[in-house]
Amino acid sequence: MHFLNHGSFGATPLVVQEEQSRIRAQMEAQPIRFFVRHLPGALSHSAALVAELVGARPEDLVLVDNATAGVNAVLRSIQVGEGDRLVTLSHVYPAVRNSMRAIAARSGASVVEVRLPCPVLDDAWLEELDQALVGARVAVLDHVTSATGLVLPIQAMIALCRKHGVPVLVDGAHAPGLLPLQVQALGADWYTGNLHKWVCAPKGTAFLWAAPPLQGSLQPPVVGHAYGQDWRQTFHTLGTRDYSNWLSVPAVLDFWRSIGGLERAREHNDDLASQAMSLLQDGLGVQAAGPQQMRAAMAAFLLPQSIASATPQGSLELNDLLWEKYRIEVPITPHEGRLWLRISAQLYNELDDYRALLSALVAIQGE
Ligand SMILES: Cc1ncc(COP(=O)(O)O)c(C=O)c1O
Repeated sequence: MHFLNHGSFGATPLVVQEEQSRIRAQMEAQPIRFFVRHLPGALSHSAALVAELVGARPEDLVLVDNATAGVNAVLRSIQVGEGDRLVTLSHVYPAVRNSMRAIAARSGASVVEVRLPCPVLDDAWLEELDQALVGARVAVLDHVTSATGLVLPIQAMIALCRKHGVPVLVDGAHAPGLLPLQVQALGADWYTGNLHKWVCAPKGTAFLWAAPPLQGSLQPPVVGHAYGQDWRQTFHTLGTRDYSNWLSVPAVLDFWRSIGGLERAREHNDDLASQAMSLLQDGLGVQAAGPQQMRAAMAAFLLPQSIASATPQGSLELNDLLWEKYRIEVPITPHEGRLWLRISAQLYNELDDYRALLSALVAIQGE
């Protein structure tokens, strides 16, 4: 098959899956030793490795199941009152939009979405963001957009929030492994990112970083044994459950080291995505979601109406046709009444995968 959607759920190397199975077997073999003696130290070790990977101090970061959980933990921990405005961008991930709406609905606040026009041609949207932030209660901003795979100027966006004194949560769901991430240096208030996408950790591996003054007020997804203790313990003590995903972090980092490092893979992937986009743009005459400097190993383009009708139904049908007839898996997402097709490039991809996509789209267009 041609698997061009690493971005949605990542892919876990077999050696890491095997290590996760080994950890599960260890848990079942002697659960008391595992949960009571082994787990706390092993969790701290995994979290410290993640902190090192993303440029954070170990004391400022906890593991969470996914970016959605990270966003929810932050939004549920802040005081939101009637009339408050929660600011985000129009590209916000739908689940994140929902968590903002849920918080707003229960407190009489509102969610304001600043429109990020796509294709992104200039910085005018940053001025709109600047204005929308005046008097806002909190901002939730994407580091990398979902449907369109755009790497946004997060430092400039955080600087605007600082200027207006608005606390900012960065949704960096895609950033770890995709970008050379230095979380602490960004100077946000909170940052959440997934390890199960571009770091290829087992599903359910993500982190939440918080600036020191905000850590004590963060409520974990589940209040358990560690209530009232250090914030990291409260987030890592979630009752009896399978922690093997989090404990597989050392194995996934060993995997990257064994094949030359994440940075080298990133260079390869960025280059492949860029070649693939040139191929598709030349072959289809399509417009990219943003300039090359706003892309990494994902890139999106506007799908012509001659290939699929720009409706949710049109996107589902094209997605099924590409899979069933051509064995191509690629996300096609409706956004503002148009369809965006996003490619990803990971080490298992080759230029031929994108050639296959191009021929399939040309064939469908001609039908
Ligand atoms: C920008 C963005 N935020 C949040 C998420 C949610 O990630 P998860 O399902 O791992 O919580 C995604 C998933 O693709 C995303 O692209």
